[in-house]
Amino acid sequence: MAMPSRADCESLDARDPLGRLIGEFAAGEPGWLYFDANSIGAMPRAAQGALGRIADEWRRLRRRGWKDSDWLDAPVRLGNKLAPIIGAEPGSVVVCDSTSVNIYKAVRMALALRPGRKTVVAEAGAFPTDLYVAEAAAPVLKRVDSLTGGGQTLGSVPSDTAAVLVTHTDYRSAYRHDLAALCRAAHERGALVVCDASHSAGAVEVGLAASGADFGVGCGYKYLCGGPGAPAWLYVAPRHQSAAPVIPGWMGHADPMAMSPDYKPAPGAKRHLAGTPPVAGNALMEAALDLWRDIDPQAAFAKHAALGDLLIRLVEQQCPDLSPASPHDPARRGGFVSFRHRDASAFADALEAAKVVASYRAPDVVRFGLSPLYHRYADIWALGERLRQLETVRMQ
Ligand SMILES: Cc1ncc(COP(=O)(O)O)c(C=O)c1O
Repeated sequence: MAMPSRADCESLDARDPLGRLIGEFAAGEPGWLYFDANSIGAMPRAAQGALGRIADEWRRLRRRGWKDSDWLDAPVRLGNKLAPIIGAEPGSVVVCDSTSVNIYKAVRMALALRPGRKTVVAEAGAFPTDLYVAEAAAPVLKRVDSLTGGGQTLGSVPSDTAAVLVTHTDYRSAYRHDLAALCRAAHERGALVVCDASHSAGAVEVGLAASGADFGVGCGYKYLCGGPGAPAWLYVAPRHQSAAPVIPGWMGHADPMAMSPDYKPAPGAKRHLAGTPPVAGNALMEAALDLWRDIDPQAAFAKHAALGDLLIRLVEQQCPDLSPASPHDPARRGGFVSFRHRDASAFADALEAAKVVASYRAPDVVRFGLSPLYHRYADIWALGERLRQLETVRMQ
C-alpha cells in the first residue's frame, strides 16, 4: 500500500467535517507536537472566558452565587451534556469527584445490590487506582490475568462475584474490551459491571447503555479536555437509580438547603453527589463539553479510528524500531496508540528532545494520545515524519 503523503493528509483535513473544531482550541507551544491526549487534553479557547465568568460571579455575587447562578446545578447539567458522548441515558450521569472516589461508590453500590456475594473481580493489569480502591471497597478482590482469557469471557470468575471491574481501555496497550460481551457474561453469572472508561470517553465509543453496563466512571481531564484536575463522572444505569448512595452527603439530598437532620436522597443520579461541587473546575469542564453540542459522536469516533489507523500505517512503513502494541482493529483500540521499543525510556527522552509530547509506560511502551477534536491528519503525518527522522538519527 502506498505511503500517505502530506498532500493526502491535507486533503483529508480539507474534507474533514470536524476540522472547524481545531480553531476552537488554543494553540500549544510553537514547534511542539502534542500527543498526550491520554494524560491531559488541550485547552478549549472558551475555557478562559468560562473561568473569567466564574471569577466575576464570585466577585459580584459572593454567597448569592449559590442561588443566583448555575453553580449548584452543574453536576447534573454537565452529566446530561456528557451522556451522549458515552452512550448513556439522559439523567443517568453526574460530573463529580475523582475517578478513584467514583470507583469506590460504584463498587460499593454493586456489592449492596448483590447481598450475599463478596467478591469483586478485576484484571491484575487494571489501572492501579482501580485495584487499590476495589481492594478497600470489597471484602474480596480477585485479580485475574485476563477477563477474556483463553477465549472465554469471564471463564474463571467465582460464583460469589458481585461485580466485575473493567478498565475499558488498557492504559498501556490501549486494548479496548468488548463491553457488551463482558456485560452479557457477567449478567449470566449474576454479577454487575463497573466500567472505568477513562481512556475511552471523548475519543472512542463507550456505549454504556447499549452494552448493558451497570456503572461507569471516568476522568474529565483526558480526551474530554476538562482541564487539569477536572471533575470525573459517574454513570448509574437507570435500573439502579434507586440504590442508596454510598456517600449520602448533603449535595445528594432531595433539598440540601432545608438543612434537615434526616437524609432523604434526591431523585435520579443527583443522589450520588456528596459535597460542594468544584465550581471553577465545572466551568472549565462545561466549556469543553459544549464543543460537542453540534457533533455527532459517531463522526468523532470514526475520525479517531482513522487517525489511529494512519499513525500505525506511517510507523509500520518507516520506523522499523517501533512495533504496534495496540490492536490494529480500531473497534478493539481505545484513545491512544502505543508502540513497543526495545529502549522505550531513552526513546521517550529523544521524543521530548525532538519536541514531541508523548508518554512512556514501563517497561517498553510509548503512547500517543489522539483527539478527534483537535488533531488533524496532517498532524499525524508530521508526527510520522519526526519519528522517522528520530530513528534515522539513532541508527547513524
Ligand atoms: C484508567 C484510569 N482510571 C483512573 C485514573 C485516576 O483517576 P483520578 O485521578 O480521577 O482518580 C486514571 C488516571 O490516569 C486512569 O488512567
